[in-house]
Order: sequence, then structure tokens, then C-alpha cells
Amino acid sequence: MTRMLSPNTESIGLMNEVSEAKPKAESPQTNPSGPLETAIHTENLCAWYGDFQALHSISIDIPKNHVTAFIGPSGCGKSTLLRWFNRMNDTVISAKATGTVRLNDLDLLSKDTDTVDLRRRVGIVFQKANPFPKSIYDNVAFGPRLHMKLRRSELDDLVEWSLRKAAVWDEVKDRLNGSALGLSGGQQQRLCIARAIAVGPEVLLMDEPCSALDPASTLAIENLIFELRKQYTIIIVTHNMQQASRSSDKTAFFFDGRLIEFEDTERVFTMPKNKQTEDYVRGKFG
Ligand SMILES: Nc1ncnc2c1ncn2[C@@H]1O[C@H](COP(=O)(O)OP(=O)(O)O)[C@@H](O)[C@H]1O
Ligand SMILES: [Mg+2]
Repeated sequence: MTRMLSPNTESIGLMNEVSEAKPKAESPQTNPSGPLETAIHTENLCAWYGDFQALHSISIDIPKNHVTAFIGPSGCGKSTLLRWFNRMNDTVISAKATGTVRLNDLDLLSKDTDTVDLRRRVGIVFQKANPFPKSIYDNVAFGPRLHMKLRRSELDDLVEWSLRKAAVWDEVKDRLNGSALGLSGGQQQRLCIARAIAVGPEVLLMDEPCSALDPASTLAIENLIFELRKQYTIIIVTHNMQQASRSSDKTAFFFDGRLIEFEDTERVFTMPKNKQTEDYVRGKFG
């Protein structure tokens, strides 16, 4: 099926925009007089692997064009929840879910949902960078070739735009035909972000995107997240409390498959309502 260029790719003309580190500021769509617009809505979402219940009645509204951090000890269900947001769990035979998950009006648990299109709209970046064993150019062009019908020059522009947006263009522009596997871990992770945004997603899921990276690459990715939230809804799973407090607007704390607290990040880290949240963010367990 041929698709039109998505709104995000229309900004190709803004290619010269430089992403630079900026101090934390008001979110782009913060509206003090009204509720935030919701990108992903879940209601009573329960999820299982076989007989084991991994998520218990999760109801959460992920705000559009903001960064939401998912925190909580290992095994509490953060990845499972992310994986229902783009139906990655379809590949796990024992995985099933009940309740509601919606992306705008799209019912994400319906058997009729077109998962190829869904994964264009909801991109994911994993802990371990997973570039394809192809050239840098072909990694970024992969999704657009699948979803869009572009002329070569348009594809070139889109590849450049995506790599610039992911703050890795300057480092790779002279070796676009070289293998992606020759890049450093931090560069590979930014390449994976470029690959994810090239198809114009609405939501970007990041599952511990920095835990395998050195501090400099981590900082580069955090700055990137800050920059990208102007255009995308971002959910980041992190074990790094400083990262959650630096780079997110809202924080959700999970424990044992349950959503314990979901508040403005500042509040979660300064005045959590729940004792378990407080113990976790203060490092008493985890
Ligand atoms: N493919 C799977 N099959 C069976 N159990 C799983 C699978 N993936 C995760 N789990 C279990 O589900 C629970 C939640 O896991 P996960 O969502 O990965 O937690 P987190 O990302 O918070 O560490 C854990 O108890 C984990 O062992
Ligand atoms: Mg996980």
C-alpha cells in the first residue's frame, strides 16, 4: 500500500535544525487550564504468560507529546506493558491480555488491528541496539521503503533528516554505505532511533535505551529525548532514577505487575504519595 509522507517527514525542510542540549523547560503541549491530550489509553489491562499474570488491571493515560518514564524493580511488568503498546507480544505464544488498550481510536488488542501499520505508528528502541546487518543508509531507509513510495532523492532527504534528528548525522555522513555494525554502541543506538523515526511514528517506546551505554552516549540520548518530545509521545523504561527525573515529565511506578503511582515526575521524586514509591525512588530496594 502506498502511503503519503507523514507530518513528521514533511519537516525535511527543517533539516538544518540542530539538536542541542537545552535546559529543562515547560513541555511543548503543557496546558495549565486543561487536561493533557492522551496518546495511549489503557483500562483494566491484565496480561498473562500462560498461567502467570504479569499485569494486574493497569489503567493509565499516556500524555501526548510528553515523556513518560516507567520505573520499578526488575520483573514488575514494564517491558510487558510496552510490548502490548505495539503488539510485540504477538510473537510470544503464551502471552494474552484482557481489558482495553487504545492508540487514539485504534483498539490495540483487536485481532483486526494491522500490526505492520501499528508498528509504524508506535516505534520501539531496545536496551541493546539492534541495527540490521546492512549499511547505515539501508537501516534508516528500511521502513520508508516498506511503507512509503519515495523517489530516490526524497529517500536520501528522509535518511538525512532522520539521522540529523537522531543527532548522529555528523558522525556517519561520510560512511552512509558502511556497515551499521561498525558503529560504536552509542552511535548504533542513535541509528536505531533514526530508523524508528524515519517512518513518522506518533509514539516512541524506549526500553532501557541507555543501560548498555557509556555516560557520554547516555547524555547524547537524553538530550535527544528532550528534543524529540516536541514531536513524539515518548515512553522510556529506565532503572536510572536520575535519568527518569532529568528526562521525563510524568513518571509511573510499577510493582509486582501493578501500577502503584503515576504523577508528574517532580512530584514522584519529591513528594510521592505511596510509601513503596518513596522507598524505591530513595533506593531502598530495587
Ligand atoms: N516471554 C515470557 N514468558 C514468560 N514469562 C515472562 C516472559 N516475559 C516476561 N515474563 C515474566 O513477566 C514478568 C514481567 O516481566 P517484564 O515485563 O519483562 O518485567 P520488567 O520489564 O519490569 O523487568 C516477570 O516475572 C517475567 O519473568
Ligand atoms: Mg524490562
